[in-house]
Amino acid sequence: MWARASLARSTVEARPLKRGGRCCYAVRVAEADRERWDARYRGGGRPAPAGGFLQELDVLLPRHGRALDVACGRGALCLWLAQRGFEVTGVDVSAVALDQLRAEARARGLSIATGALDLETEPLPAGDFDLICCMHYRQPALVSELIARLSPGGVLAIEQHTVDNLALHARPSRRFLAERGELARQVLDADRPLRLERYSEGVVEGRAVARVLARAFD
Ligand SMILES: C[S@@+](CC[C@H](N)C(=O)[O-])C[C@H]1O[C@@H](n2cnc3c(N)ncnc32)[C@H](O)[C@@H]1O
Repeated sequence: MWARASLARSTVEARPLKRGGRCCYAVRVAEADRERWDARYRGGGRPAPAGGFLQELDVLLPRHGRALDVACGRGALCLWLAQRGFEVTGVDVSAVALDQLRAEARARGLSIATGALDLETEPLPAGDFDLICCMHYRQPALVSELIARLSPGGVLAIEQHTVDNLALHARPSRRFLAERGELARQVLDADRPLRLERYSEGVVEGRAVARVLARAFD
């Protein structure tokens, strides 16, 4: 069964997925996630400053093209990318966060497509992206799907908190934390080979994170 998820500027096809027979379980978990994140975003606040990670690696990023920000939240990164001339799509489970992102984009005179998607059960928007970002959202099965959507020469940038963060902070909780080396393995073991241009694990601004920047071959 197919459903259409509305985007601000376009639409994506969304289909409930069964990954490894855990569809119902995943739907329940994601529904709880959706409510939790909606409540958090309803609590107010503005987009946090866009992650320093991409700004530090600016020289390695494409100059323009299509960008996808996965689990974008209020979309600080989407706004930063749109300001730089990218054609940006942001997807997230929280419709509240996406409403806030669209309002902020309008206020800044920017055009950003958004999609309310449950990444546990629904597919990502189709198409080739020149840049795909996923910051602070961990779902190991997703990485190969991100890689599959890169255009030739496209760049994948991911930052995730790692298990070492537990020694520093109680949150994010364990299920959201990457094992040491996990992110590098996911990229290097993917069916589609990528050039790993940057990889690091360590404490940045008081948070233990893994960061990867990898490029698809032309
Ligand atoms: C820690 S926030 C990160 C937001 C943003 N990427 C950032 O770095 O500021 C995690 C995001 O993942 C989203 N999320 C959680 N579960 C999700 C799911 N099943 N599908 C899609 N998005 C989800 C939340 O709504 C939230 O915006």
